[in-house]
Amino acid sequence: MSRPLDRILALEAVRVTEAAAIRAYELIGRGDERAADQAAVEGMRWAFNALPIDGTVVIGEGERDEAPMLFIGEKVGAGGIPVDIALDPLEGTTLTAKGLPNAIAVMAMAEAGTLLNAPDTYMDKIAIGPGFPEGTIDLDADPAENIISLARAKGVRPHEIQALVLDRTRHEKIIASIRSTGAAVQLITDGDVAGVIATTDSAHTGIDIYIGQGGAPEGVLAAAALRCVGGQLQTRLVFRNDDERLRAAKWGITDLNRKYMLEDLARGDVVFSATGVTDGSMLDGVRLENGFVTTHSVVMRSATRTVRWVKMRHPKRDVG
Ligand code: FBP
Repeated sequence: MSRPLDRILALEAVRVTEAAAIRAYELIGRGDERAADQAAVEGMRWAFNALPIDGTVVIGEGERDEAPMLFIGEKVGAGGIPVDIALDPLEGTTLTAKGLPNAIAVMAMAEAGTLLNAPDTYMDKIAIGPGFPEGTIDLDADPAENIISLARAKGVRPHEIQALVLDRTRHEKIIASIRSTGAAVQLITDGDVAGVIATTDSAHTGIDIYIGQGGAPEGVLAAAALRCVGGQLQTRLVFRNDDERLRAAKWGITDLNRKYMLEDLARGDVVFSATGVTDGSMLDGVRLENGFVTTHSVVMRSATRTVRWVKMRHPKRDVG
């Protein structure tokens, strides 16, 4: 058993997502997704320089030929503890460009070699928060069966369950199946990392279960968060063409139908950080007041299961 990640790293990690969020702030509501993403990437890349890590980007902005910065395989950090990095400098580029809620900057650090090298494909996902017996959910069961099983485990009627689903036509059957039980469906336009995390605090968010198909990289980030706070997540990669199958082969994935459980996605000790860009159900967005920038973040650590909420006021000149 290796040593848990240095606890100081949990405090340092937040600077990385803060920097990305602050840079993206200037692009909120400007209708330019690329510029917003680019700004967040630059902010995050800058902040990594000060981190005492020898980091390798495992989940990043894309492959080396598609992303100039924070590409998969890029080395980040000032040198120190060897870690795998999963990041999304701007989870919700469209949300940011349109000035809509729930855009976040997100990053996870884990012991080297413990995060799944997920290809940039879709992934089927089902997630619930902590406190339920193993087996309460099953990716291979109908959504309706999962709702009924969860309601039973929670001791409520299916009517009292609320599911979160990305609003996509590919989810029509899933939505119908959930609603057939009487459960409610909350539809989101983007942002399934935050969507999965919402299940871990259902008393506050009202969300009991996340079901649907989103990005595979986002699945690894969500798994890192769940490793810190508990909960269940089951996933499967979805391949739409040979190019995507080739990408999987490149990352050493041979069983294309494998069901990935939480620890298959993120098995080592993990530190997870997210900072709000626009206001959301979990985090406030960035604010600019009287020459100060205020950020709201959550930092979690799997070794101790601590969750820190960090409200930070930065003098504007210090933020990259
Ligand atoms: P971006 O941060 O890249 O904009 O992704 C947003 C997102 O909604 C993810 O949260 C989700 O996993 C994925 O896009 C869903 O993909 P699609 O929009 O193709 O359905």
